[in-house]
Parts: sequence; structure tokens; C-alpha cells
Amino acid sequence: MRVLVIGSGGREHAIVRKAAASGLVSEVHCAPGNAGIARQAVCHPVADSDIPGLVELARRIDASLVVIGPEAPLCAGLADQLAAAGFRVFGPNGQAALLEGSKGFAKEVMLAAGVPTAGFARFAEYASARAHIAAISFPVVIKANGLAAGKGVMIATAMEEAEDALSRCFVERSFGDAGLDVLVEECLIGHECSVLALCDGETIVPLEPAQDYKRIHDGDHGPNTGGMGCYSPVPRMPAELVDEIIETVHRPVIAELKRRGIEFKGVLYAGLMLTADGPRVLEFNVRFGDPETQAILPRLETDLVELMLACADGTLDRQRLTWRQERCVSVILASAGYPLSSSRGDVIEGLDPDGGLPGVDVFHAGTAETDGRFVTAGGRVLAISALDSTFRGARQKAYDAASRVSFDGMQLRSDIAAEPAAAESADRP
Ligand code: AMP
Ligand code: GLY
Repeated sequence: MRVLVIGSGGREHAIVRKAAASGLVSEVHCAPGNAGIARQAVCHPVADSDIPGLVELARRIDASLVVIGPEAPLCAGLADQLAAAGFRVFGPNGQAALLEGSKGFAKEVMLAAGVPTAGFARFAEYASARAHIAAISFPVVIKANGLAAGKGVMIATAMEEAEDALSRCFVERSFGDAGLDVLVEECLIGHECSVLALCDGETIVPLEPAQDYKRIHDGDHGPNTGGMGCYSPVPRMPAELVDEIIETVHRPVIAELKRRGIEFKGVLYAGLMLTADGPRVLEFNVRFGDPETQAILPRLETDLVELMLACADGTLDRQRLTWRQERCVSVILASAGYPLSSSRGDVIEGLDPDGGLPGVDVFHAGTAETDGRFVTAGGRVLAISALDSTFRGARQKAYDAASRVSFDGMQLRSDIAAEPAAAESADRP
């Protein structure tokens, strides 16, 4: 069968690689893809925002399954359009995607479903939001309601910062229409974690947990990014805790959507804070995480395409997921200026002609090919994922491989998975 993957990041490269390895698949296509994906899939220059163009592409290549990676086309209703045209799709419909596309909608669903989350109030203008913040205690979290590419969340520790954040939303309009609707939330304290689960509308199956690193610099300093690295599994997240989160978060949310006539198929990603009072939801994503996918999929033994078809067809109850016991550590190499900007066209040295390195999985994110050379073409450039029986070994392999790669202004964190690796050493006398 022919699989079409929509998107152009490291997440999509990891999905493409799994699809290419599936016994069910004869051809993998991707739109628009990147220079690394082009080594494993036929790439088509159709943007992930071009909904009619993507439906037309699926028709043209007669896709047996379309996998939608990023949130924007999901929120724009690509899954609905593809389903209406008769395609099997992995990814939720536009209404279900509102769980990510509208933080206010997600809160409303959580309240109705009794799912624990941060207290909040919603505002459509500066003055009332400011008055509310003046009456509560700091820190507060200020969020643009709509999609803002991970940049619409601001934590304010004093009134001046809160005013800045509200200005960015209502005055400077930094987030466009997404920022004209603002949530002011209670700031939760604890360990942040995420639980991703496959859903076919009925059955919910958790994936192995993964821990990402959101800040640009070591020790969780500097601005938030899309994610600078990841590891899986997460010793802090035993199976019992994952199951508890599935039962108290995923199941009631999917049931509440169903009550409203909305079916959820695809990946439901709950971002949580493990607080002293128990897990609390920070946000939902309606897709695989990036870079979580680059640390989770290398450990998946079950055929990913079989699982995605089961989600599309409503037969996930017949699937059993099996995982490699090895640990996976994934380190992101980012371009100069990220996350405030990104640098394009810097030549990437050290990769082999296929865009890889021995002994590790290299997933391309922001890369392009110019005159036969790989160059940077975005903020996050590469994800280097390594498997080993220990976190220490996986870390070593990932960082050894990363040290062979270079480009102007390359940024990477040096502490990805340092914590679970140190805990292993402490376990051994
Ligand atoms: P979100 O896109 O909603 O996940 O927010 C991005 C990041 O902001 C999260 O990963 C957290 O680190 C932080 N954040 C969001 N909401 C809260 C909250 N209520 N309390 C504390 N931190 C938060
Ligand atoms: N790593 C977080 C995300 O994919 O949104």
C-alpha cells in the first residue's frame, strides 16, 4: 500500500522511517517533507496548509493511508476533507482537533468531564484581564486561546510582566486572532510530563512515556522552544501512573467529546503537571509530539502502519503494542537564533550522503539540500536518537554522534537524559 505523510519535521521523518520499514507498505510519500525525508519517501511540494492541494495529492497517488503530522492541517479540517473523499486517515477531525486549537474549548470539555486542570478565566479584552490579574496572586499564566506555534504561553511573576503579556496579545497582536481571546490560568508547580495515547474512537492505548526538554539552555534556562531533546521511557512515570492518567484524563475527555457527537481518532497527547495534589492537565495536543516521537518510535516493535490503520478503522482493540526494552535518547541540534528566529542556508557538515550517521537514527527537521549539500532550513535542524540498554549508553551514543555534526551557530543542550542516567549510576554501587 501507499502511505502519505503530511508534514516536514523530525516527527514526520520518524513516522516516514517506520512506515518505510512496514511490511504492509510498498511506497511512502510525504508532503512537503525535507532533505532527510526525501531519502526515504517521494516528497511532493505541497504545503501542509494547502488543504485542497493535499486532498488532490492523495487522489493522484491513490494513497491507502494518510497520516497527518502537524496540528495546523488537523485544525483546518484536513482529516474531514480526506475522509469525505474516501481516504483512510490517521488524525482527528477538525472538531476533535479543537482540543488543541482552542484552549478555551479544551477547558470547557475538561470541566464537563471532571478532568483535573489549572483554574482559569477567559477574557476578550485587555482591561478586564488586567483587573482580574490585579485581584489574584502571582505567578499567573497567560495564554493565547488559539494556535500560536508553542509561543502563546507566558508566565508572569509580577504585574509588569502580566501587562507585557496582555499587550502582546491585545495591543501588538503578536499572535494574530489567536491572541484576542486570552486565558489567565493558575500557575501549577511540579514535574511536567506527557502521556500520549492512540485512540480509534473507542479503544485507548497508551504509548510509552517520553520526557521532553522545552527550554533552549541547559538546566531549563532561557525561552521555551518546540523541544530540545527527549528520552523514553520515563522512570518517574511507571505503568500504573500512565494507566491512572488514561482513566482520569483521556477516557473522560474522549467520552465527553463522544457525548457531543465528536469522534476522536489518532493520538491524544496530554501535557500534565504532576503536582502535590496529583496530575493536572496543562494542555492537549491532537497529534504525536515533536521531539517525543523521535524518542518513542525507535522503541516501538509493533508495525506502526498496522496501528494507524487500526485507529482509522476502529479496530485498535485487536492490537497489542510491544516495545524494545532499550532506552532511547534524542538530542536536537538547532540553528543559530532559535527559538526567537532561525538561520537558513548554513551548510551542515558531518552527515553521510544519506543524511545519517552510523549507529544512531538521524531524523531531519529543518534541512534542505543545496548543490548536493545539506543546509539548515529551520529552527530545529536534526534530531539524533540513540538506543542502548542504559540511559548512560544511549546518551553517550547520541552525543558522540552529535559531536560529528557541525554548522554555523549550532545549538544543543548537553543535559538531555542526564537525570535518568545519573539515577542509574546511583543505583549501582
Ligand atoms: P502549553 O502550550 O499550554 O503546554 O504551555 C506551554 C508550557 O507552559 C507548558 O509546557 C508549561 O511548561 C507551561 N505552562 C502552561 N500552563 C501552565 C500552568 N497552568 N502552570 C504552569 N506552567 C504552565
Ligand atoms: N514537544 C511538544 C509538542 O510536540 O508540542
